[in-house]
Amino acid sequence: MKTKIQDLLNDQIKYEASASMQYLAMASWADNKGFSGVADFFYAQSEEEKAHMTKLVKFVNERGGEVTIPQLDKPLDRFENLNALFEHFLKSEMFVTEQINKVIFECLQLKDYNVHNFMQWYVTEQLEEESTARTLLDKLNIIGSDKTGHYLFDRDINTIATATE
Ligand code: FEO
Repeated sequence: MKTKIQDLLNDQIKYEASASMQYLAMASWADNKGFSGVADFFYAQSEEEKAHMTKLVKFVNERGGEVTIPQLDKPLDRFENLNALFEHFLKSEMFVTEQINKVIFECLQLKDYNVHNFMQWYVTEQLEEESTARTLLDKLNIIGSDKTGHYLFDRDINTIATATE
């Protein structure tokens, strides 16, 4: 595996790990505020990101590369409201997509079609996750600061999220 590609994949391991910790912090915030539906959604997202990270760790090892398990920055754990929480969710997913696109770009530049092929799974996954984040934020923007709306959003979040997949 080329060093540049290995470095990018190690960076990606860090981004997926950071997303996992970020979503765990978001789940915990929601849990504490009594939004149990939102909390469950982010607990599950956190597990998904962990799986994305592990998939990369295994792939780099299988290819004979060297994995660096990263040190992570502290995630944001205070949010003004649900809207701020989901704005951060979308921002995080958009960042990850951008980084995946960078890996794809370098794979093509360096003609590493094997890693390029492997990364297609992440491209599809990101499309879905970004679309879910956008839909949920759009709903919250419609709801605004209405408390009943937030109650219903929390109750129905899984139905709204799965409708986008
Ligand atoms: Fe695996 Fe949504 O980043």
